Amino acid sequence: MFEHFTVPSELVPSDPRFGVGPSLIPVEFIRDLEKTHHRLLGTGHRKSEVRKLVNELQDGLRTYFKLPAGYEVVLGNGGATFLWDMIGLGLVEKSSLHFICGEFSEKWFKAHSLIPWIKTAEEKVENGQGINPYEKIGYDLICTTLNETSTGVMISDLPKLKNSETLMAIDATSGAGQIAINFNHSDIYYFSPQKVFASEGGFYVSIMSPKAIERALRIEKDMGRYIPECMKWSHAIENSRQNQTYNTPSISTIFYMNEQVKLMNKLGEEKVIELAKKKADLLYSWAEKKEYLSSFVKDVRFRSHTVATIDVDNKFRVDEIAQVLRSQNVAYDIESYRKLNRNQLRIALFHNVSFENLEKLTKIISKMIESI
Ligand SMILES: Cc1ncc(COP(=O)(O)O)c(C=O)c1O
Repeated sequence: MFEHFTVPSELVPSDPRFGVGPSLIPVEFIRDLEKTHHRLLGTGHRKSEVRKLVNELQDGLRTYFKLPAGYEVVLGNGGATFLWDMIGLGLVEKSSLHFICGEFSEKWFKAHSLIPWIKTAEEKVENGQGINPYEKIGYDLICTTLNETSTGVMISDLPKLKNSETLMAIDATSGAGQIAINFNHSDIYYFSPQKVFASEGGFYVSIMSPKAIERALRIEKDMGRYIPECMKWSHAIENSRQNQTYNTPSISTIFYMNEQVKLMNKLGEEKVIELAKKKADLLYSWAEKKEYLSSFVKDVRFRSHTVATIDVDNKFRVDEIAQVLRSQNVAYDIESYRKLNRNQLRIALFHNVSFENLEKLTKIISKMIESI
């Protein structure tokens, strides 16, 4: 249908990477890494140069998120998927309650449900709907996803838990950096850095409250559970306190992330969030204006400021649009999450995806469809 469409040169974006993960890593970061020459890559990760880098990253995150006193930035290998098990094994005393609004929140729930000694429960909504977490008697860990990458749903409210024995856990993988929360309401806030933080996968950041740290260390010490060594919170916490990771990390991943944190700290969180909202408004108002488009998330409160999901009239196949744009190196990875099975665009609104390029992308897609 679209195979003869050529994108006008004045509309070609300066960067084709619109995917929600792995996301756009600025080429300048790659050049800057090269400039470190013999200093970082291929050197000992427990030596001062790398530890300085890790320390700078931890401090940068503390500044960006304005973390309350006593909160620690814990780092390690494995990414968010690894943490689902690490949290289930090491942070749930008896029971976890999961708020599910898509594929990733569901996977987290399933990971905990496979652990024989914990009780799990779910509060689930249809894909495209949002749900804010709340407390329920009988659960010691509340699990919520800041931004459901599969559906483009974000939470709009994070309550303060009343029961001091209950912890709030937040998978912030695709929202961290652009969707603000009150950290006083959070006990473990974690993410992989290949989204807003413009790095590579296989790594995690976990921001832990004193209560979460206390619980993790107590479960290991007192509950007599078998926890694999590589999943022990005590190792992750102790190593992070020394600006290290329990096992060898990818140094380039830490480097890119640190560059991104520095970049975002130049503006500060409020400004970054303001820019993200502007991009979200651009995409959702485009969807409203065109009769062949509609926002997948109907309730505006839950429409993501990092991942826009827009349904397209079935007459115009998104996979064909995406293929034509990819083949012309104009836009990559704009298709919907595969398991949703929808004729849908899913587009990153991450910090490095510029407003101007998003505007061009919307114009290109409109032109393509309207040329039929
Ligand atoms: C919300 C969310 N949670 C968890 C994950 C899994 O992250 P990773 O692949 O780094 O383990 C993703 C990946 O896209 C995600 O979007």
